[in-house]
Amino acid sequence: MAGISPRAGTIAHNNSPYFLLQLTDAHLLKDTQHTMLGINTTRSLERVIEHIEQQQYAIDGILVSGDIAQEPHVSVYERFYRLVDRLQAPQFWLSGNHDLIAVVQATTNLPILNAPTCIQLNDHWRLITLTSNRLCRIEGHLSDQDLDWLNQTLAENPQQHTLIALHHHPILVQSPWLDQHSLQKAEQFWNVLQSHEACIKGIIHGHVHQEFHAQYRDIPVWAAPSTGFQFKPQALDFAVDDIPPGYRWFELYADGPVKTGVVRLNHAVGQVDLQSEGY
Ligand SMILES: [Fe+2]
Repeated sequence: MAGISPRAGTIAHNNSPYFLLQLTDAHLLKDTQHTMLGINTTRSLERVIEHIEQQQYAIDGILVSGDIAQEPHVSVYERFYRLVDRLQAPQFWLSGNHDLIAVVQATTNLPILNAPTCIQLNDHWRLITLTSNRLCRIEGHLSDQDLDWLNQTLAENPQQHTLIALHHHPILVQSPWLDQHSLQKAEQFWNVLQSHEACIKGIIHGHVHQEFHAQYRDIPVWAAPSTGFQFKPQALDFAVDDIPPGYRWFELYADGPVKTGVVRLNHAVGQVDLQSEGY
């Protein structure tokens, strides 16, 4: 639960916004030739990384919001790290319900955050990451201990602009098959935030494989498309979408505002299996 700092030399200048990139739900497979739901998830991630490289963003940090692996092998996590490292920015990894922390930790130096962490992004901004993942469970949970830590951490520096990131969605996306696997007892999470709302500028999550934006009281909630395959928004039952993969970016301004947007590739990478009924 200790605070960590970004890589030396990446602290944003006080007058320029901190540029945070969100990559999520890559679901990489052990065999780079294999596909899931019709998509080669490694190739799709490669295309997304190439697209980001072409934009020449000055990236200060990369939030990876879970489900890095569909098949959690050491080689998969190493491949993901190498691909994302082409962007030359510090990576902050959350685990998702398809990841296995023990496997990631079998390799040293991978930037997995397996406990709630407060990351000081610059003089004005902090990113608080939570671990909503519990072994062998699809849905999200936050322990009482972690909620207490969150409450205490938020109270420590109330003048700092704060983003909170977790894998599971703490607000329903109106897709019942996904919403049954959202953050459970989410009201406990929102209750903790209630007395700290002045400093909380937004919540970021993965898990839903779609662009999403909502508001809970005055707090914005954002999710990003998967770098691989997408779920159809507001579908009652499991349904994939043929919309291209992408990512989300954030600009965090020193006096508090957040600009954010989703960018997608122009074309899908492969042919998603629209008839699929699950994975
Ligand atoms: Fe996922």
